[in-house]
Amino acid sequence: MIPAKTITILPGDGIGAEVTHAARQVLEAIANRFGFKLKTQTALIGHEAIVATGKPLPEETLAACKAADAVLLGAVGHPMYDLDPSAKIRPEQGLLALRQDLGLYANLRPIQLFDELLDASHIKAETVKGVDILFFRELTGDVYFGQPRERRDNGNTALDTMIYSRYEVERIAHKAFVAAQQRSGRLCSVDKANVLESSRLWRETVQQLAKQYPDVQVTHMYVDNAAMQLIKNPRQFDVVLTGNMFGDILTDLASELSGSLGMLPSASIGDQHSLYEPIHGSAPDIAGLGVANPMATILSIALMLEISWQQADIGQYIRQVVDLVLKEGYRTRDIAESHTPPHKILGTTAITERIIDKIEQPALTLI
Ligand code: IPM
Ligand code: MG
Repeated sequence: MIPAKTITILPGDGIGAEVTHAARQVLEAIANRFGFKLKTQTALIGHEAIVATGKPLPEETLAACKAADAVLLGAVGHPMYDLDPSAKIRPEQGLLALRQDLGLYANLRPIQLFDELLDASHIKAETVKGVDILFFRELTGDVYFGQPRERRDNGNTALDTMIYSRYEVERIAHKAFVAAQQRSGRLCSVDKANVLESSRLWRETVQQLAKQYPDVQVTHMYVDNAAMQLIKNPRQFDVVLTGNMFGDILTDLASELSGSLGMLPSASIGDQHSLYEPIHGSAPDIAGLGVANPMATILSIALMLEISWQQADIGQYIRQVVDLVLKEGYRTRDIAESHTPPHKILGTTAITERIIDKIEQPALTLI
């Protein structure tokens, strides 16, 4: 019997409401199917929260996240802030503050391919086939949070601080080493140690920790080379460990290996809390149209079941269900190909119904 769980859902901005609604329905179907109790509550974040309360992360939202067993987030961001780079209050601050306040220092971004979607990538199928990478992106340090960050010289000079402490590197590196042990035993740590002092500390710390994991084969790569290698020969990577800024950029780049940002989930883990969210953003251009791909959020539920609830088999089951729906030829607009028949291109609600139909069929069982 799986103990009852409380989940705080933060739909956020843009397509966030549509994709979290879909994922919540899938989670409810999973709870019914496997007989566990679920309590959900929703709270405001991002632009929606600014409009309603003036703050991107209201206190009630933070409290609801702290009280929950896990948090599911849609997306934050709104184009109106792009027009004013000097805006003091921005939706993204809500997400950054949440990561910091919940202590979510390890961001896991698996880049896995569905065979059905091999041709959806702009990169050749022969290059991306078989890619299975797990990124560990540090999430609460680096230039994202380093102080000082300010304007000087009457606003004509600006600075941010790239900073890491040994402790911050160690705690995420431990998680990455353990994951490497459970996977193929290979870990690539990405930095810019040929130039940056913070990267030299990063590398030195990873090298020292490696002694505790003699069964893991560690390599170090500069971030510029890593960007090239990810496109040239992505199968060389298994677990990739990197800092906040490099990880932000490399995971967007790596997402293209899978063909669509719309298929990629993520988990942000700390010692006490965890948050699950699709990698894609708020996609304001398609918000409210009912065409957003909910699968990255549904696959984030799979990660939640695996990591927060230790139900690896149910997580795997969700992935299998998504795979079956793809195998039947159904697509959302973002992953449709020129040869996809129009009646197989479904909106958010219709593709979610296909997924739930499968979950409700007793024939498909845990593997
Ligand atoms: C991400 C996003 C965020 C980040 C933004 C929305 C603040 O790009 O999760 O990758 O930069 O971390
Ligand atoms: Mg990003």
